[in-house]
Amino acid sequence: MSIEELKKLDKQYYTGVFGERMPFVPVRGEKAHLFDANGREYVDFLGGIAVNCLGYSDEGLISAISAQARSLIHISNLFYIPSQAAAAEKLCKLSGYDKVFFCNSGAEANEGAIKLARRYFSGKGKYEFIAMKNSFHGRTFATLSATGQERFHKPFYPLMPSFVFAEMNSLPSVEALISDKTCGIIIEPIIGEGGVMPAEPSFIQGLRKLCDKNGLLLIADEIQTGNGRTGKFLAMENFGVSADITTLAKGIGGGVPVGAFLAKGSVSDAFTPGDHGSTFGGNPLATAAVDYVLSVLMSTDMMENNSKLGDALRNALFDVMAAYPEHCAAVRGMGLMDALVLHDGLSAKSVMLALAEKGVITGTAGGNCLRFVPPYVITYEDIETLKAALLAVLKEF
Ligand SMILES: Cc1ncc(COP(=O)(O)O)c(C=O)c1O
Repeated sequence: MSIEELKKLDKQYYTGVFGERMPFVPVRGEKAHLFDANGREYVDFLGGIAVNCLGYSDEGLISAISAQARSLIHISNLFYIPSQAAAAEKLCKLSGYDKVFFCNSGAEANEGAIKLARRYFSGKGKYEFIAMKNSFHGRTFATLSATGQERFHKPFYPLMPSFVFAEMNSLPSVEALISDKTCGIIIEPIIGEGGVMPAEPSFIQGLRKLCDKNGLLLIADEIQTGNGRTGKFLAMENFGVSADITTLAKGIGGGVPVGAFLAKGSVSDAFTPGDHGSTFGGNPLATAAVDYVLSVLMSTDMMENNSKLGDALRNALFDVMAAYPEHCAAVRGMGLMDALVLHDGLSAKSVMLALAEKGVITGTAGGNCLRFVPPYVITYEDIETLKAALLAVLKEF
């Protein structure tokens, strides 16, 4: 099918929420490289939006999923599920949490975390959450309501009540919002969709103290930052802080749709039978993928390597910024979650499209950022390819 035919079908039959999509159709991939139907190769710095952590065509992941599909794809949570139990054990060991619940997406993981916090304080009159301005937590009603960006809220008023918004990196602004109704604080350790902004360590550490002092739950949304992307399994480890509840999704299934929330001690025991559930969540196929991805993270130096690759990536971006200060405003990020912030006169989307024409896939994020969240198998050579493409593209603007 040609891309023109595909566009026609998409326009006619698919709900129009994605607008104009990328101008080529990937048909296969190898490591961090994609290929279109004409065999054209692209280096992928977007990785399915921070999802394809092991890259494309990972033989081990393919074998794990295929073997599981041949025995059981789905069975329901009415049964004990070996891959679910194995993946849960690995996730708890890697993260230091006591219990996990598997769901199907990031929004569902945050939805579950919000419910768990509410359940923990059930009957105690504590139901309000403090979230951050400019955050992104998902598109279900609770997670949309927790998202601190007016542009996502506007078409859907009235939203779910009980979310209030503080300034990122301002402890006084958080403290001012704490009341006897507050049950938790939800935070992305690195704001993702809002513009790839790592939190200041003192802010995260201060939030932990505020939660301890006021008896609140700290919820870390690690949907984009977790699973080893920043060099540690959880980005919060870089700040020396552990949240009471952590949410994960994106990379943990290596591309198979899955999310999870993790909790400790009495918080993890707050849910009792019937309080929460999911038909598909934690199913054999999805958790076979999680079990495999986690086994790779546990048995290799991949996470540590992400930190080194991230340094090289940001150094390359700093070189680009030094060459084109008229276009580039800043370089931000941690590990393999990075951004080149452009001055307002040049839209990140136009640079992204020009890069795609040169065979390099990137993404955008809020605040006019060009975003890089590549597979963990990206190479130093790929980073050089990106740098050369960026230098060539920025010269044309
Ligand atoms: C930090 C964060 N939270 C939640 C979500 C929502 O995840 P999903 O799209 O899987 O529902 C995202 C997605 O980009 C995210 O980056």
